[in-house]
Amino acid sequence: MKPPKVVFVCQECGAQAPKWAGRCNECGAWNSMVEERVSQEPTAAAAAGNRYSQFGAAGSAKLYADVETTNATRLSSGINEFDRVLGGGIVPGSLVLLGGEPGIGKSTLLLQAAAHFANSVGPVLYASGEESEHQIKSRGDRLGVGAAPLYLLSETCIERILEEIARLKPALVIIDSVQTVFSIKFQSAPGSIGQVREAATQFLFAAKGQNIPTVLVGHVTKDGNLAGPKALEHVVDTVLYFEGERHHSHRVVRAIKNRFGAVSELGVFEMTGSGLRPVANPSRLFLSERASGTPGSAVLCCVEGSRPILVEVQALVSTSTYGNARRMAIGIDQNRLSLLLAVLEKRAGLSLAGDDVYVNIAGGMSIEEPAADLSVVAAVASSVRNRGLSPSTAVFGEVGLSGEIRGIPQAPLRIREAVQMGFTRVVLPAANLDPSESKDCELVGVRTVGEALDQLIA
Ligand code: TYD
Ligand code: MG
Repeated sequence: MKPPKVVFVCQECGAQAPKWAGRCNECGAWNSMVEERVSQEPTAAAAAGNRYSQFGAAGSAKLYADVETTNATRLSSGINEFDRVLGGGIVPGSLVLLGGEPGIGKSTLLLQAAAHFANSVGPVLYASGEESEHQIKSRGDRLGVGAAPLYLLSETCIERILEEIARLKPALVIIDSVQTVFSIKFQSAPGSIGQVREAATQFLFAAKGQNIPTVLVGHVTKDGNLAGPKALEHVVDTVLYFEGERHHSHRVVRAIKNRFGAVSELGVFEMTGSGLRPVANPSRLFLSERASGTPGSAVLCCVEGSRPILVEVQALVSTSTYGNARRMAIGIDQNRLSLLLAVLEKRAGLSLAGDDVYVNIAGGMSIEEPAADLSVVAAVASSVRNRGLSPSTAVFGEVGLSGEIRGIPQAPLRIREAVQMGFTRVVLPAANLDPSESKDCELVGVRTVGEALDQLIA
């Protein structure tokens, strides 16, 4: 049999070339040429058509009213923090991508989930291209995986894995990782973007066609897009990212995209000697090492997805020994920090020109929402004035360029979490002040940065 013909197609402009090139000749984009297969025989095209028909579509359009509503039942993975990010469990026939840096704990989490799933729902196929069956087994022993209908397959060939799926008809399939598998129809190496996309497409058809939920593991490099999961995000139903500092024991799984649930939902785990342990109360974890009352520390009520979490925002302002002052942010956006410092200088009369400013979210969390602004401002001002905030005060609110404090969503949720964690005073935007809420704690509404600092650092 003649080997299938391949072409290299630019992902930017669609230009085709017989050979790979680092730069597209047509549009000049770098590193955009991807190997693609051309099927010349009409049978191949028909086969492709068949693949789509596995979705169950009859080919003709249906009237909206005639389409039956199916209440997707969800299958529990047995790990409640993982179910939470998935939107309440795994939807049958869905394709989930779990991305994260190497060594963060993806294989550990999925092996734990696979064992639970095998015990409660049905057989699971765990296909690994990275580790041998023995390696997986020895990790499983450490995790306390007992006798469960869990099938291990050390295989990198997609076609072989699909054969095993068809033979075993498992209730869940795990592919660890999508970068190590390859299709024999392609010549390029495993991990190249063509192979990764082919793998995702093949497993998508298998998942939808046989209604088997499938989890793909994807490695992300520091720059986040090297033949990586980024290219797959639009193919899969759900994209989860595993985050966390390798030097901290806790890990966060975040939903970036979810066709069956809310995004930015968050699951918190702690890495222990016997695998990942779900953390039911993240606020307690993030505040556990807080030295209350020290200057430069503020407690923020942030909301991730539907979940309120209290975190400690730390700031350190020190005299710069060199000509240009350093501004460093860990866990919040660097540009946002610059903006907030400018507001502090201009609207609150704080002089920071000759100072180094360091801001850190304790525990390695990263926060994107603007509700963190007021806590950053408070922590920096507290460090400058060398006066600590009251240990029983929590803050949240967005800071505008003219120094105004703007209202933010889900304020009651944040207040409730603060009260639950024992805080007795919350400084928040005046726009979020609701008199009916202030039963268990003192709510202080503020309109400007100056007003907020007067309330926080008396
Ligand atoms: P792993 O799941 O192999 O990461 P990934 O699949 O994302 O590359 O996890 C690797 C790290 O987790 C490794 O550094 C050791 C640590 N670990 C524990 O601390 N406790 C455990 O019980 C296990 C299994 C791993
Ligand atoms: Mg792994």
